[in-house]
Amino acid sequence: MKILVHGAGGHMGQVVCRMAEEGRYGARLMAQVSPEFSTNPINDVYSNLDAFEETVDVVVDFSNPKSTEALLNYCIEKKFPVVIATTGQTEADKSLIKQASEKIPVFFSANMSVGIAVLSEIARKVAAVFPDADIEIVEKHHNRKMDVPSGTALLLANSIHEARTDAEFVIGRHENGRRRHQEIGIHSLRLGNEAGTHEIIITNGNETITLKHEAENRDLFAEGALKAAAFLVGKEPGLYNMKDLLGNK
Ligand SMILES: NC(=O)c1ccc[n+]([C@@H]2O[C@H](COP(=O)([O-])OP(=O)(O)OC[C@H]3O[C@@H](n4cnc5c(N)ncnc54)[C@H](O)[C@@H]3O)[C@@H](O)[C@H]2O)c1
Repeated sequence: MKILVHGAGGHMGQVVCRMAEEGRYGARLMAQVSPEFSTNPINDVYSNLDAFEETVDVVVDFSNPKSTEALLNYCIEKKFPVVIATTGQTEADKSLIKQASEKIPVFFSANMSVGIAVLSEIARKVAAVFPDADIEIVEKHHNRKMDVPSGTALLLANSIHEARTDAEFVIGRHENGRRRHQEIGIHSLRLGNEAGTHEIIITNGNETITLKHEAENRDLFAEGALKAAAFLVGKEPGLYNMKDLLGNK
């Protein structure tokens, strides 16, 4: 599987490139694209997508949401499947992702970890079993993170929302006044080099369930992205996510 890594100069991009160079999940690194690079085809590095003119089987993107539209246009033109792991897209960007998926296979997940996919399913079930419970989500990330709250916190909140259709998200509660019953509070901490912790607290006053996922390092996201890339190769155009990757497990 020949891959192009977009955002290759970043923290996540570097991990994906290392794993692809090691041939993990059948990957073969063909191109590293990132604005901080000077194009040098001998070393397979490119400063922008247009500088790379060869073919790959799939593109893996860990970059910046500002680049999502250009990335989609490039992948549609080249007919490259794309794994978008970048978070923080606007609603308009998300609808572009959906439109692109009518033309090419697109895998889009705010979190590439299998553990988070399972956690989101469990959170939805617990919320359904305790319809009157108060639910709060706390997320913790490194101090360089751009998007607030994390895409994963929103992914978890959206999963809970499937069971609590009247829920409204309250991001960073800061005003006086009582908590409304239907709120799902989302709180963000930004500290040091934290790889990512998500905690969901569900309580009805008599009993409390706390669900917690801690990323120990960034390898799990890169592994998930390479698994998603391998899954995407040869697929029909469509919008895929971790649920598709996990199947009936
Ligand atoms: N889905 C997941 O599981 C998951 C996990 C970790 C991080 N992320 C997301 O991946 C993205 C990258 O995270 P990171 O920690 O590596 O960030 P980072 O800041 O270390 O790296 C971002 C990279 O993108 C590049 N970049 C910036 N603007 C660009 C543009 N307009 N076009 C192309 N490249 C551009 C930067 O030069 C850099 O190389 C973030 O959106 C982050 O939230 C997702």
